[in-house]
Amino acid sequence: MSTPLLEINDLRVSVEDREILKGVNLTLQGGEVHAIMGRNGSGKSTLSYVLAGKAGYEVTGGTVHLKGRDLLAMSPDQRAVAGLFLAFQYPIEIPGVATMTFLKVALNAQRKARGEAELSTPDFIRVVREAAGELEIDTAMLKRALNVGFSGGEKKRAEILQMSLLKPSICVMDETDSGLDIDALKIVARGVNILRNPDRAMLVITHYQRLLNHIVPDKVHVFADGRIVKSGGKELALELEKQGYAGFDEPALDSATGLAS
Ligand SMILES: Nc1ncnc2c1ncn2[C@@H]1O[C@H](COP(=O)(O)OP(=O)(O)O)[C@@H](O)[C@H]1O
Ligand SMILES: [Mg+2]
Repeated sequence: MSTPLLEINDLRVSVEDREILKGVNLTLQGGEVHAIMGRNGSGKSTLSYVLAGKAGYEVTGGTVHLKGRDLLAMSPDQRAVAGLFLAFQYPIEIPGVATMTFLKVALNAQRKARGEAELSTPDFIRVVREAAGELEIDTAMLKRALNVGFSGGEKKRAEILQMSLLKPSICVMDETDSGLDIDALKIVARGVNILRNPDRAMLVITHYQRLLNHIVPDKVHVFADGRIVKSGGKELALELEKQGYAGFDEPALDSATGLAS
């Protein structure tokens, strides 16, 4: 089998000396969409922050490789250039910067870092129109300041468009908690389905089973107390909807001692 796009091995992370991730193992091959589900506080967002390289999250053990390269050794910028894209639950607002301008700067910064030529404004407009058309996004939105006053659905559209332009190898989308109405949910699902391809893998973090009615994941992982406690196919999401997380969050046994840790 070819090199996985993302390979997480026994990842351990502490925040303020408290261990939050307690040995995460996860492998994503090209073309795969995996879902991570789990209770609030189980560490799902911590996983996405660590992949992004956010300050304050101390990796105390384990490894992460992106297409065989050591992700944890890279700066957040280098991670993005290497093909990692993260979509967060609360996207930043940038008053005074038109969404179009933001997208152009973001795309050209990555092209430059990869040694590719920057796109001229006319070329960029052509590329963005094409991508917006494919995603059925009205380009009028792009004249407005990034995320300022955007509805939940518009924020998701801007994010999916950014993802489409940057052509990442790994997309990590943290869609937990509130704020995703059914419209926004469908936009995310549609974007994921359109952008799904053999050279890309996606990790969708959610505790909405209903998102997975629109995105059919190849694998579902249940997260509890800082690690994956069960993995299965798409049917696992349905099981979770019926049973909730009860039964999934007993303390996992320490693999070395056999005792609850
Ligand atoms: N920056 C932080 N400072 C202190 N504690 C944090 C921080 N980030 C996460 N935690 C703690 O880590 C645990 C996991 O949180 P989180 O990753 O947000 O879970 P989830 O996304 O599954 O709801 C929680 O107990 C939370 O309080
Ligand atoms: Mg979260």
